Amino acid sequence: MPRLADLPMADSRTAAYTILRDAGPVIRSWRGSRMITSSEAAEYALKHPELFSSKRAFDIVGSPLAMVPIAFDPPEHTRYRRVLQPFFSPRGTAAWRPMMRALAGELIDGFAGRGECDLVADLAVPLPAQVFLTLFGLPLEDRDRLIAWKEALVNSFGAQGPERPSERAAAMGAELYEYLVGHIARRRETGGTDDLLGRLLADTSDEGLSDSELLGLAFLFVLAGLETVTSALSTAFATLAAQPALRRQIAADPAAVPGAVEELLRVDGPVVFVPRIATRDVELAGELIPAGSYVMVAIAAASRDPAEHPDPDTIDFGRRERHLAFGGGPHRCLGSHLARMEMRVALEEWHRRIPEYELAPGVTPRVTWPAGLVGIDSLPLVFRPPAPQPADHVP
Ligand code: HEM
Repeated sequence: MPRLADLPMADSRTAAYTILRDAGPVIRSWRGSRMITSSEAAEYALKHPELFSSKRAFDIVGSPLAMVPIAFDPPEHTRYRRVLQPFFSPRGTAAWRPMMRALAGELIDGFAGRGECDLVADLAVPLPAQVFLTLFGLPLEDRDRLIAWKEALVNSFGAQGPERPSERAAAMGAELYEYLVGHIARRRETGGTDDLLGRLLADTSDEGLSDSELLGLAFLFVLAGLETVTSALSTAFATLAAQPALRRQIAADPAAVPGAVEELLRVDGPVVFVPRIATRDVELAGELIPAGSYVMVAIAAASRDPAEHPDPDTIDFGRRERHLAFGGGPHRCLGSHLARMEMRVALEEWHRRIPEYELAPGVTPRVTWPAGLVGIDSLPLVFRPPAPQPADHVP
């Protein structure tokens, strides 16, 4: 099997994931690590944390503290999820939809009149950063600092998983840490605000999170909740810009958006694999995975497994098939409903204003590879500027 870094990811995830799946459901990879590529085997690994540990796999370089909840195994992990789940359930996240819609609308209105934009710099990067700042009660003026910290940290993840951080990444990690420590301490004093952090701080029961746990959560939120959404929006818009028949389904009927988001995540989700460490010798799909092996669960390849998804490389917004873009088992993405909402709101607000658009002349979108996530750094789009909307137009 080629090294992950050598896969033809930049030009064709279809080709890259086919190579992985054709190599077998469980394959021996780089430096004795193992990779799981079939949907069935991936789901099994994700649902058996006692065999495939996250705690050891997420002993992350660059983070001065354990990231809550991803770097824990059950039963510790179970307590974190119990505390956090209500905020991140479909019901819990619904309260944030108007805020997100307003943020997305403002960002799009900021460039729509130009008839062109860089979808990544103008929308996909700032939107999740502003959502994070709002949920944690931080000023929007801190946006560009937050983005710089996030970028330094994300860049310290290679295609094979975490790498030794550069001095700069470590320094940026320390700055972000200080920033969040100071903010949480101040908020502990002032209290009283109804944002996510305020509500978590208000929980003083035995179950409630300590300051260092809140810090671990905030840190993980920056790492897991910003670049993922940015990358997912970048590839989603690249696909829609290149395929008029798909984008017209959304422009014609906003009810198509939820199905479109699921399908775009299934086919081209930003997370290629999630890491685990085998706690003992495990036989999976007829292959031995020795105790202590670094195991990459290749959720993106598994989400295109033909055994689960007929004609897996064809994009069909009408599918209703479970996929693994958000992982599975106890660590299934805590922010999945939030992420879906960000993507839906961005697609709805965009297509309401700009139904017809295309890639700027000469642009061929390529994802950056090797990298920790599948995403496009810059996506220049052109379109006809929308007619001005009446000032009191509220969706
Ligand atoms: C399209 C966007 C996103 C994708 C594709 C995605 C994907 C994933 C995946 C695959 C996992 C599982 C990791 C594992 O099993 O080791 C995960 C975990 C997680 N994600 Fe997301 N994510 C996205 C957005 C977000 C957002 C916006 C947040 C903000 C809260 C978030 C927070 C988390 C957290 C806290 C975990 C750890 C859950 C746990 O360990 O119990 N994610 N995500």
